[in-house]
Amino acid sequence: MSVDLTIVIPTFNERDNIAPMIEALETALSGVAWEVIFVDDDSPDQTAQIVKENALNDPRVRCIHRIGRRGLASACIEGLMASTAPFMAVMDADFQHDESKLPEMLQCIKEGGHDIVIGSRYIGGGGTGDWAEGRVKISRLATLIGGLVLKTKVSDPMSGFFMLNREFLRRVVGHLSGKGFKILLDILASSLEAPKVAEIPFQFRARRVGESKLDSLVVLEYLALVLEKLLGHIIPLRFLMFVAVGSIGAILHLASLKFALDYFLVSFIWAQSFATFSAMTLNFILNNFFTYRDRRLRGIKMLRGLVSFYMTCAFGALISVGLGDFLFEKGVDWWLSGLLGAVVGSVWNFAITSVFTWRKTD
Ligand code: GDD
Ligand code: MN
Repeated sequence: MSVDLTIVIPTFNERDNIAPMIEALETALSGVAWEVIFVDDDSPDQTAQIVKENALNDPRVRCIHRIGRRGLASACIEGLMASTAPFMAVMDADFQHDESKLPEMLQCIKEGGHDIVIGSRYIGGGGTGDWAEGRVKISRLATLIGGLVLKTKVSDPMSGFFMLNREFLRRVVGHLSGKGFKILLDILASSLEAPKVAEIPFQFRARRVGESKLDSLVVLEYLALVLEKLLGHIIPLRFLMFVAVGSIGAILHLASLKFALDYFLVSFIWAQSFATFSAMTLNFILNNFFTYRDRRLRGIKMLRGLVSFYMTCAFGALISVGLGDFLFEKGVDWWLSGLLGAVVGSVWNFAITSVFTWRKTD
């Protein structure tokens, strides 16, 4: 019998949830032709191994074992694309999502002809369980911000629990950003036409075992996703971040210049060199951490990257000074000359470092 419903479960360090989850699906989905695809990013706790052991005795269990990659959203996309079923659901491995709602969601998506059915915590009958008040507030705020990029009104676009129609997935998959945590928001925001959505309430439960992988950087990734969906077509988000980091660098530059002049009592040229190096180093660190979070350099590669960053930026500074001076000599206002010089210098720095310092490896 061909599979009617695929459940895609991204996993990272979830070994003790695997067997209970398969059992829970079996109970919830009796009468449905289902399969489960665990997409594991080579968890150190050997989750993939456990999945494969279960798969040996149960053809409904599959494993996508990814090496050298991380990411909840991209894991979900790969799992979804590996399915041949007409309907597929995405769910956490930790029992926070109520698997007993799956049959109702399946019936709803089939009968209603929806593109997507979302398990929602924020409609009547749903709830956030024992979440601390702070986390509920953050989630609400994130939902509001997410609303900026949505074409359809949805009560819980941050939900990690939803079911898709394969035709719909095929239409949106080419537009997905695939970054970060918020796969549902990504899907909803990437659809060219307003998706046909239904929502089914569920009670968010406490994690069964193991720990959450949500850290504070996830918030930044989330804002980046929303910004990319809002502006991505006009100015590349990375460039905006690069410029934001550059502005922080400029402030540090002035502060360290003042510091060196006042406390080291050195000549201006030494103080200026010190300030330049401090600013470039801070810029490198911040860009490595935020702008190029996905290509972050570590260890010896970081040192090599730092040197190439210094060299590129030194040349960028020459361009900025040279062009600014040229324009100023031609009678352009001082501020416009300075600004244009700085913009062209930044574009140079961005373009060159994105190729040489933070080279794309995959
Ligand atoms: N393959 C893979 N790679 N899986 C991952 C990764 C990763 O980098 N990071 C997390 N996962 C898996 C976890 O093992 C878990 O099964 C699922 O993705 C969700 O991660 P959790 O760590 O349990 O996240 P959470 O419970 O804090 O957040 C959940 O609730 C949010 C509700 O606001 C997620 O479902 C979010 O998607 C949801 O928005
Ligand atoms: Mn979870």
